[in-house]
Amino acid sequence: MRKILVTGGLGFIGSHTVVELQNSGYEVVIIDDLSNTRREVLDGIEAITGNAPDFVELDLRDKNAVFNFFQGRHIDGVIHFAASKAVGESVEKPLLYYENNIGSLVYLLKAMLDNDVRSFIFSSSCTVYGQADELPITENAPVKKAESPYGNTKQIGEEILEDVTKAENLNVIALRYFNPIGAHESALIGELPLGIPQNLIPFVTQTAAGIREELSVFGDDYPTSDGTAVRDYIHVVDLAKAHISALERLLEGRNKSKMEFFNVGTGKGSSVLEVIKAFERVSGLDLRYRIVDRRAGDITAAFADTSIANRELGWKAELNLDDALRSAWKWQQKNK
Ligand code: WQD
Repeated sequence: MRKILVTGGLGFIGSHTVVELQNSGYEVVIIDDLSNTRREVLDGIEAITGNAPDFVELDLRDKNAVFNFFQGRHIDGVIHFAASKAVGESVEKPLLYYENNIGSLVYLLKAMLDNDVRSFIFSSSCTVYGQADELPITENAPVKKAESPYGNTKQIGEEILEDVTKAENLNVIALRYFNPIGAHESALIGELPLGIPQNLIPFVTQTAAGIREELSVFGDDYPTSDGTAVRDYIHVVDLAKAHISALERLLEGRNKSKMEFFNVGTGKGSSVLEVIKAFERVSGLDLRYRIVDRRAGDITAAFADTSIANRELGWKAELNLDDALRSAWKWQQKNK
């Protein structure tokens, strides 16, 4: 049975990917430093799949710990989620983001190559495109100057990987996520924002649950159909499945170059007001919200051209916005 290391495997996207890996017959070992999640996520994974993945609490900034992890373990591939990911926090604490997101990546790659681990899936983001000049966004769209240290760590991560694949026997797929939302249908795992949610959907569901007073809609003066900003919201389970398709491409040697990039989205854009209306439809609730000023650094619109991922990965998003919002609300209700 092939063994896959999932770093950040107790996080939002990581935990859903661990479930899909186990469902696909892989043995999984998780590294997580528990800085932005809870150990109980392990129980949720086991409740869904009947399998408790190996778990090692480890900080990837600890170079020796990373090297020791690989001793005596045979790892066939790595899916690397572990990183700090709050855009606003990254502006306040850039060094935390550069040390964690870049330092960890370098130590992980060195340890992998020292132990003959040659397949690597990198968690990247559509944020590397900034405000793209053309929509939908293709993988050839230019990478623009990052709006935040968080976004910069994704760009730098991709550049490091390109350099390393040129110099070493390493095969990489960078998946550029659009906006992951929703939760597993069982509501046993989902998004666990610790503190005040930065992202739209957790704020929507916490407002509906009465945890937040009202949702602030950041601006309705964008050049879009209804003035609110447009994003490509992809169900986290569809996103998780894209990782399995990408991993199998590498393990089976079907990759056409040593570093490949794929946009992972639905290909459909939805405005904030459209998301609110969809949530009200699936929940049967009226959501309290107020239009306020734009949030600094936000772009007007982003949605993916997914034709390359569809063709090369044989993957396509199967769930829609209503499915994702329904699952997010079910998860919120279960986690009062
Ligand atoms: C979505 C839309 C907001 C909150 C970021 C990162 C990206 C990824 C996902 C990590 C925007 C609006 C939001 C709120 C609002 N993160 N909004 N009120 O900014 O597109 O992407 O998170 O991997 O890399 O860049 O996602 O969910 O924060 O915002 O009106 O309370 O909802 O203005 O238009 P974003 P988001």
